Amino acid sequence: MKIILGVSGGIAAYKAAELARLVMQQGHEVQAVMTAAAQEFVRPLTFAALTGRKVLTDLFAIESAIEHIAVAQEHELMVIAPATADLIARLAHGLADDFLTTLYLAFTGPVVIAPAMNVNMWQHAATQANLETLRQRGHRMVDPDSGYLACGMTGPGRLADPAAILEAIEREARKRRDLEGETVLITAGPTQEPLDPVRYISNRSSGKMGYALAEAAAARGARVILISGPVHLAPPYGVEVVPVRTAAEMRAKVMERLGPAGIVIKSAAVADFHLGTVPTQKVKKTAARISLELDPTPDILAELGRKKGDRLLIGFAAETQNLHQEARRKLESKNCDMVVGNLVGGSSDIGFESDQNEVVLALRTGELISLPRAPKREIAERIFDQVLKLRLALHAADGR
Ligand code: PMT
Repeated sequence: MKIILGVSGGIAAYKAAELARLVMQQGHEVQAVMTAAAQEFVRPLTFAALTGRKVLTDLFAIESAIEHIAVAQEHELMVIAPATADLIARLAHGLADDFLTTLYLAFTGPVVIAPAMNVNMWQHAATQANLETLRQRGHRMVDPDSGYLACGMTGPGRLADPAAILEAIEREARKRRDLEGETVLITAGPTQEPLDPVRYISNRSSGKMGYALAEAAAARGARVILISGPVHLAPPYGVEVVPVRTAAEMRAKVMERLGPAGIVIKSAAVADFHLGTVPTQKVKKTAARISLELDPTPDILAELGRKKGDRLLIGFAAETQNLHQEARRKLESKNCDMVVGNLVGGSSDIGFESDQNEVVLALRTGELISLPRAPKREIAERIFDQVLKLRLALHAADGR
């Protein structure tokens, strides 16, 4: 594989030489690119000698004015180690004032970033916000180790071990673009059903599960349409987000955007009931008790089950008990190809709001697969692995 190694100016720049050696030992070709500050710590000659290639350093000292475009197109993966707070800020904001940052903007493949800096700089809200932007963009972070730092302080900030960075590179390199050409329609988050102009009924869904699915699908090459209830999450990079509020709005947008989708995933926590006629004025407080008479909302998943055609339809089941039975029951009753069951409620740190989940997959083939507790993004990857396997199995069964 052809890999760009970007080196920015921190004391850990010397460790990038060891990383270059390790990456080359795996049979990859390495093109080193150094910022001006990196060259204050290590001379380009070190990388030139290790990689056998001229090190790229200066945007204006090149044969062709568009060399950064050619370099971007020729390479398949970019790793930046060490990435300083300054470089991370420049990448996050799309500044392109030297060869490395210009190349980064022109590069469309996977990016691995290994930050290294002083502990206070690492913990600063600005740095953390910039890192979050880069994570949302789908880049893989190799977080710094904790320990004694060159500045004399102790804490997180030391460049991760080159072997750990190599492992992240290998994982990215193996990552498949197996959803290229697919359109995936995903619903996420809660719905809000108004009771009057200032009140509504909703639920605890944060949208994290659905957004993790959208990120995973986009990273694997799919065109992703994410129909999202109200959440506090940044739109995933490269994903088209369609905001909605109520179950009725979600239904309308799902049906409107269904056309090109080959895979539909209903991870939204849609309200089951709503107030049929919503008062136009705020309901005044009185001493009397009031009761609400609620109507059922449209069951979007059941409607999709009736009109899905060749699409793969994946529903979710949020349960407080009998997870396996309920996942299987919803698979049948809503004509899904897979139902992802998860436990919600109680004090458990999975399901609603958590960054982690633990699920059971009930498949049309009769299989029941348990996925142990893992970050929602990891669970999302495993769900797509199974979706693709399921498609092959169903096609084989159809004789197609
Ligand atoms: O958002 P997070 O905080 O990350 O939490 C994730 C999650 C717990 C919300 C998610 O993993 C999950 O379980 N989503 C489905 C929640 C839900 O509404 O489950 P249900 O068992 O009530 O509904 C079954 C299925 O029918 C779901 O696919 C749901 O989207 C769909 N449905 C439900 C009601 C309705 N009116 N229309 C629907 O399409």
